Amino acid sequence: MKTEKIQIFDTTLRDGEQVPGCKLDKQQKLTIAQKLDELGVDVIEAGFPISSPGDFEAVQAITKVVNKATVCALTRANKKDIECAAQALEFANQPRIHTGIGTSESHIKYKFNTTQEDILNRAAEAVAYAKKYVDDVEFYAEDAGRTDNAFLARVCETVIQAGATVINIPDTTGYCLPSDYGSKIQYLKQHVKGIDNIVLSCHCHNDLGMATANAISGVVHGARQIECTINGIGERAGNTALEEVVMILKQHQELGFHTDINTILLNEVSQLTSSTMGMFVQPNKAIVGANAFAHSSGIHQDGVIKRRDTYEIIDPREVGITESAIVLTARSGRAALAYRFKNIGFDVTKNELDLLYQYFLQVADVKKEVSENDLHAIMHTFSQNK
Ligand code: KIV
Ligand code: ZN
Repeated sequence: MKTEKIQIFDTTLRDGEQVPGCKLDKQQKLTIAQKLDELGVDVIEAGFPISSPGDFEAVQAITKVVNKATVCALTRANKKDIECAAQALEFANQPRIHTGIGTSESHIKYKFNTTQEDILNRAAEAVAYAKKYVDDVEFYAEDAGRTDNAFLARVCETVIQAGATVINIPDTTGYCLPSDYGSKIQYLKQHVKGIDNIVLSCHCHNDLGMATANAISGVVHGARQIECTINGIGERAGNTALEEVVMILKQHQELGFHTDINTILLNEVSQLTSSTMGMFVQPNKAIVGANAFAHSSGIHQDGVIKRRDTYEIIDPREVGITESAIVLTARSGRAALAYRFKNIGFDVTKNELDLLYQYFLQVADVKKEVSENDLHAIMHTFSQNK
């Protein structure tokens, strides 16, 4: 089946790095950027050059080592930010400036103390100014999730006329329901003149745990770029997780989309990002968490040992994990115990297994997890008492 390509815009180094404690130095940013390029992301948002001299230098250095991806820099809708971003991107093969302004009532009224007309003018001016430096200009309508659709459509039309190539519709506060976010994208597809000549982009935050669902809903309703971060890191509860949207699109071929991500690298990139940023990945995190391919209850273990896809919808090798883990706990059954004994070289008979299982339960009841060393000890005790 022919599928449509969804662009993956990675903002680990910008929206992700904004998180307290996640700050990276230039070398660390370079290491992650090179890995992202190898992973196959289409766009790397390298930073916010006006924010500090260090970030300016990091963005500039990234443009010199990235081979395939577009390198993007964030700005606010003003000339100084845009000039600084353009300078930082000077050596990029494919530079993109990402400029924008708040469009919701609360941003217009309380952040800018201005009018909708003024926001439209500032948006158009910023895009036109960025266009003097680069061909590829992405516009973000900050807080689009809470922006009235009719006004958002006017914003989109205005920035398309000014030369925007991509329009980002951020759910900045992570407020939208997937159905609302999808309807918003659909509304823009239906009401904005020239919308089919640009790419609509989803940028969703995770305050209500819906960042991934919202991004997928956006794509289903017409967006063709997803902005995301490795491990879903980002402001507050984070951003859409790259590994999640990529694997959703891969697992659900019926949706008719694909990405160019080399999924075998997902686990490695996740660990690199986590260790470099000092940001622990929760064990139950989808795709890259330590327990994402681990089975500990007897019923599940028995099923997985007989046939992996009984309880797994993804082959762990597809995301760079060698094999599923059969974890031994007091909830494990005989099948798991026999499997783990076999893995360390003991092929036990059914009668032996029945006895070994009693020894095993005594250990398992007082430990969170029975280790390989424990299994050797259990076998030793069993052999001595035979
Ligand atoms: O969440 C947001 O609105 C953003 C923009 C700056 C793109 O990160
Ligand atoms: Zn954001």
